[in-house]
Amino acid sequence: HGTSKKNELGHLEIGGVDTTELAKQFGTPLYVYDVALIKERARSFKKAFENMGVKAQVAYASKAFSSIAMFQLAKEEGLSLDVVSGGELYTAIKAGFPAEKMHLHGNNKSREELKMALEHGVGCIVVDNFYEIDVLDELYVDGERKIPVLLRVTPGIEAHTHDYITTGQEDSKFGFGLLNGQVERAIEKVLASKAFHLLGFHCHIGSQIFETQGFVLAAERVFEKIKEWKDRFSYVPEVVNLGGGFGIRYTEEDAPLPATYYVEKIVEAVQKQVKELNMEMPEIWIEPGRSLVGDAGTTLYSIGSQKEVPDVRKYVAVDGGMTDNIRPALYEAKYEAALANRMNDKEEEKVSIAGKCCESGDMLIWDIALPSVKPNDLLAISCTGAYGYSMANNYNRIPRPAVVFVEDGEAQLVVKRESYENIIVNDIPLKSKVVK
Ligand code: LLP
Repeated sequence: HGTSKKNELGHLEIGGVDTTELAKQFGTPLYVYDVALIKERARSFKKAFENMGVKAQVAYASKAFSSIAMFQLAKEEGLSLDVVSGGELYTAIKAGFPAEKMHLHGNNKSREELKMALEHGVGCIVVDNFYEIDVLDELYVDGERKIPVLLRVTPGIEAHTHDYITTGQEDSKFGFGLLNGQVERAIEKVLASKAFHLLGFHCHIGSQIFETQGFVLAAERVFEKIKEWKDRFSYVPEVVNLGGGFGIRYTEEDAPLPATYYVEKIVEAVQKQVKELNMEMPEIWIEPGRSLVGDAGTTLYSIGSQKEVPDVRKYVAVDGGMTDNIRPALYEAKYEAALANRMNDKEEEKVSIAGKCCESGDMLIWDIALPSVKPNDLLAISCTGAYGYSMANNYNRIPRPAVVFVEDGEAQLVVKRESYENIIVNDIPLKSKVVK
């Protein structure tokens, strides 16, 4: 997919760059991003809205992968940005991303984070709970620009995905219950305060979703309420944000839809409601994360040790693992892989790819067919662009890998590999007299 292909040497090439050269130049493990593919994904979402003739914002959910370079790319592509913490906000500001196109999320934004967002003039704060309304009300300075907010609602829809990552159910830590009267109390509070400009409503029903029904149902549920609120509060929203969650193809079992398909169904659902309500079409915002960067990312690993458990399986270990991709361990996520330095060789054996961390659960792939592997072979695991680097950690004091962007035959380092010095940079040795 994307610009990935086998070159004349039988090596995996991405963005016109030989991955064996990347491994030599930047070392392994290495995250490699196909920039052309990110652009293609971003443009197809934007184009889909343009074709439907509706005002929209496509906000990149930066939790999927954030770095200064990624934010610069998102800016170039005309995306908005969903940030969920002071750290993501800070990185985006440092990248020169326009604050007015940022949306601040989070179920427990601190006073400092909210203050920071207001000082930079973020485009919108997605208000999650009553406490946050109170804090924002306090922070608001009379006479200043009213705080643009969306209210996050939980429409009680369970999207088809892994349990741990669904957030649209009523029983969720996120947002105001749509069906239990909480939203109405929140609207009353926000409309009664002079601090806020209520832009509209937000909901997010889950992640790695392959169907459109969930989004359509969410739009319908929200508009059922909007209909009530139109009379009750004389209020109609300017913006309806239906979140992210569009699925990608990790393995053959996954069958995602093209971006246009999701967008068309969402827009049609909203248009239908708007017509019935005889109100103006609101702007539609979405927040794709995974579907913008997921399949654009590939991780390169060097193969090291092997262990055979007679009559059971063969473990092949790589120089990374749950420290750079925690998804298999955390969600039983499935991935595909290829031997990047020997793409022409026939698949001869079934092996399981193990990480190098001190934990039995540190497995990246179970039972995959590969050519017979040797130490120093280069393994490429595809579709690691979302929630890979962003969830990377230093378990076992393993430094985080580097990240490179490739495009048109050129590679650019965008995140340096961590060093051992980085690993101890915040450690403070005991004062000698304390050590008895
Ligand atoms: N908007 C909101 C409010 C979200 O909570 C999320 C993801 C997104 C947008 C973007 O969703 P996406 O388009 O990327 O599916 N760590 C998990 C995924 C957690 C998703 C959390 N929220 C994983 O690795 O699968």
